Amino acid sequence: MKCSIAPAKVILFGEHFVVKGKPALGLAVNVYAKVCVKEGSGRVYSRQLGEVSVRSPQRAIFDTALEEVSRFTGKRGSLDVYVDSDIPVAAGMGSSASIAVALVHALLVYYGVEFSKEDVRRLAHEAEKAVHYKPSGVDTTLSTYGGLLYYKQGEFRLLSDLKLPSDLSIVVVDTGVKRNTGIVVKEVLERYERCERVLKHVYEAAGEIVELAIEAIKNSDKKLLGELMLINHGLLWSISTSSRVCDEVVYTLLELGALGCKISGAGRGGVVIGLVERNTAESTLSRLVNMGLRAFLVEPDYAGVRTAGS
Ligand code: MEV
Repeated sequence: MKCSIAPAKVILFGEHFVVKGKPALGLAVNVYAKVCVKEGSGRVYSRQLGEVSVRSPQRAIFDTALEEVSRFTGKRGSLDVYVDSDIPVAAGMGSSASIAVALVHALLVYYGVEFSKEDVRRLAHEAEKAVHYKPSGVDTTLSTYGGLLYYKQGEFRLLSDLKLPSDLSIVVVDTGVKRNTGIVVKEVLERYERCERVLKHVYEAAGEIVELAIEAIKNSDKKLLGELMLINHGLLWSISTSSRVCDEVVYTLLELGALGCKISGAGRGGVVIGLVERNTAESTLSRLVNMGLRAFLVEPDYAGVRTAGS
């Protein structure tokens, strides 16, 4: 049995705008999908979902990943796949991408071929296309490489010498509202087509936010970083990716003293992230949990996909 783990991600700035060529800034975080493969009869089991039957829509990503890896390696086996993921599903943390990345990695290790991380990213991206409408590739890239990633028009730049200010923490609130990234992306693009004259400026502003946020991180300017998050949330609202529940979480986080917050990922539910001072992070978290919200603190993962024990 060969097992691999791949991290989830949060998008700090730029989701959706990235789909039309603007930059995005993402961070891999220490919540993981684990996938194991072993000789078997072509079954897929998930600890969270049970057996994934051949007819279910969730099967597509597994079948495509298996097919892509077989084409790459020239090897084909009858395998069983086991998935155990702590990443909230359909919440904007890239759970399907992390599963695809961990699966491709585990398969390549299983077949014993030489491969690079770039091979993992590329093959997982093909599998991700089976479940998402026009994925930008940001999720698979972050899950493969880990760390802080600047992403623009298919070009990714790992910002390995850049770290979030160490006195900042990221709190994640899972609204529990699940939605389909592909549908949200499609509807956002449709609004863009109808309102391009206006929205092209919104997209331009979103791109500037990412560039300025990198400066703010370099200068450890936490106040500016928080403000940029809020502006980014407003721009995401204008392209229809927020919702009442997301906005309520944003206001709650601000009332609890967050420096800034925004939806992260596809939006319309999913997760909202907040930047909080590290020395208040635990108390903010317990207040959120006491309000009945599903919240947790995350740390960066700088390693990306890797082999794990079974
Ligand atoms: C999803 O995590 C991020 C989106 O920008 C879609 C994508 O980049 O593929 C909404």
